Amino acid sequence: MTHIVGVSGSITQPSRTKALVEVIVAKASQKLHAPAEIIDIAQIATVLGSTTSYNQFPEALAVEYKKLLSADLIVIASPIYKASYTGLLKHFFDLLDPKSLAGKTAILAATGGSDQHALVLDFQLRTLASFFGIYTVPTAIYAKDTEFTDYQLTSDAIKARIDIAVDQAVYLLNRETSQALVA
Ligand SMILES: Cc1cc2nc3c(=O)[nH]c(=O)nc-3n(C[C@H](O)[C@H](O)[C@H](O)COP(=O)(O)O)c2cc1C
Repeated sequence: MTHIVGVSGSITQPSRTKALVEVIVAKASQKLHAPAEIIDIAQIATVLGSTTSYNQFPEALAVEYKKLLSADLIVIASPIYKASYTGLLKHFFDLLDPKSLAGKTAILAATGGSDQHALVLDFQLRTLASFFGIYTVPTAIYAKDTEFTDYQLTSDAIKARIDIAVDQAVYLLNRETSQALVA
């Protein structure tokens, strides 16, 4: 069965990014009839930040990596911090074996205070996913703070975009299982 895992790269709570991830994974879960889990970087920030070993993870971190590695579809989301995704989200991926996520499918999402940094999705998060051999859907989701009310997504335009991205993910997942890839 397909397994969905959302990663929220925010380091604070409450978080618009986490709320956005929840909406995306709920939609994917509904369309794929599949279970979904969330990795909340804010909840593991201290243990993650103090981990520098690639081989031996503290239990709290090992649990989250196990979730990630079990995913077929990953939602990778971050708030924009200083024109990039968050440092702790990068650290979370930096500690992983480069081959560990190859062949998975991902939807990319970000939240930001302004219009200025929407392309972080295509020029930074998409390149990170490509490094890991992850297939990313073409439609990325960028939601501004004004599209949330009390940390809940309230924009119909963003919800419509989520629908498109999830449909693209379903298409990719179906293609991957029906076609053998030749290296
Ligand atoms: C340290 C910091 C740096 C930020 N830098 C940017 C930025 O460069 N561009 C931008 O559009 N928003 C920036 N923001 C705004 C956040 O991206 C925005 O408020 C986002 O929704 C926060 O997500 P969260 O609620 O999940 O933490 C920054 C916020 C913080 C706290």
